[in-house]
Amino acid sequence: MGRGEAMHAMLKRVKGAYALAILFEDDPSSIIAARNGPPLAIGHGEMFLASDVIALAPFTNEVTYLLDGDWAVIGKGGAAIFDVDGYPVERPRQTSMAAAYLANRGQHRHFMEKEIYEQPEAIGHVPAHYVSLIENRADAVPIFDFASIPTLAISACGTAYLAGLIGKYWFERYARLPVEIDVASEFRYREIPLSPQSAALFISQSGETADTLASLRYCKKLGLTIGAIVNAAESSIGREADAVFPILAGPEIGVASTKAFTCQLAVLAALAISAARTRGTITENEVQALVRSLAETPRIMSQVLDSIQPKVELLARELSKYHDVLYLGRGTSFPLAMEGALKLKEISYIHAEGYAAGELKHGPIALIDKNMPVIVIAPFDRFFNKTVSNMEEVAARGGRVILVTDEKGATASKLDTTHTIVLPAVDEIIAPMIFSLPLQLLAYHTAVFLGTDVDQPRNLAKSVTIE
Ligand code: M6R
Repeated sequence: MGRGEAMHAMLKRVKGAYALAILFEDDPSSIIAARNGPPLAIGHGEMFLASDVIALAPFTNEVTYLLDGDWAVIGKGGAAIFDVDGYPVERPRQTSMAAAYLANRGQHRHFMEKEIYEQPEAIGHVPAHYVSLIENRADAVPIFDFASIPTLAISACGTAYLAGLIGKYWFERYARLPVEIDVASEFRYREIPLSPQSAALFISQSGETADTLASLRYCKKLGLTIGAIVNAAESSIGREADAVFPILAGPEIGVASTKAFTCQLAVLAALAISAARTRGTITENEVQALVRSLAETPRIMSQVLDSIQPKVELLARELSKYHDVLYLGRGTSFPLAMEGALKLKEISYIHAEGYAAGELKHGPIALIDKNMPVIVIAPFDRFFNKTVSNMEEVAARGGRVILVTDEKGATASKLDTTHTIVLPAVDEIIAPMIFSLPLQLLAYHTAVFLGTDVDQPRNLAKSVTIE
């Protein structure tokens, strides 16, 4: 039996998700590749194989993606691709955007640090790219018609899910569009009765997360219009969507998502404004004010990054001595509290939880003592006074409050906090982007003090391509 026949016979019997690269002791110049589920890309030139095009970026930008069930024989001169039934197939050769950026850390100690400081530049691409969509010009995405959909479904995992949760607040508040959202590992199995007239958004930095892809396919089967908010437009999620909304963040290498998160937020904000405009739920003046705020984000981010580092580093040194940290917030600061906690736990291994501040009395308050710092995210918004009263409850029980607020909030709060980080006062729609900066830096510096592997924390992978 030849190699091809053996491969075909073997793949007919193999079950489940796989991405295989088979090497031969007696023929080192050949590789047989096969994919079902997790991604595989062939790089052209000297011929390469990788699960992520970023890995190919230093060598080639000409790539061919294998589809589910495909297998390929790769040799020095090229690749022959076969489908699941063993028939030769052509798969398009594409120019990968990833090759435009050669991933290196530059002057920074870690990719995560570099990516935190890249945010003003990265997020600056979003308003420029989405302005035509917000203004409903002819070149906007016609297939995604916010005016006619009764509901919007959103699904994603981890940090991307938390960005979606913040997006839900915006779509509901500004565009009066009800949003059904869940983590993709639940969404895919819940058998949610969704109308084919609805639309669904799937958010993923990598565009390859298995649960998010499965949720997308569930919605596709039901006939919903599918939008993908992805960093890698060429990814599986990007390719299977009806409309792609790129986050334009450039490659994110650190396992902890930072710039992808704030760029996802910027795209969600742009889409929510566009939806509100199309649905006539806000005035033209309000649209313009929101767009102006969005365009201000890069400048304010730079200002914050230039000023908060010493204070955050000091605080991180202290935080690194604790075993548990609680994050609290209301409104869009609630998902942000969960994101702050996720960032801290995944890279410093300190246990952290994010809670809606209003839930404090329903359980977590029992944990409060001097050994558990409470990080309160409270911009001076319509929830501020309520969050302050939660802070007082924490302080009254001997808890250590670390307040992250803005200039107005710092003046208004009379509480004697352990630390206060003061940010510029900004419009509500960009507050989550600005307030995520101290949370990212706090997690980063705490992990650096503790000496963990910041870019590749234990047990985690950058993209989770199997369930
Ligand atoms: O590539 P994706 O955005 O789909 O990844 C989703 C999550 O795995 C990811 O956001 C994860 O939670 C990050 N490590 C968090 O920093």
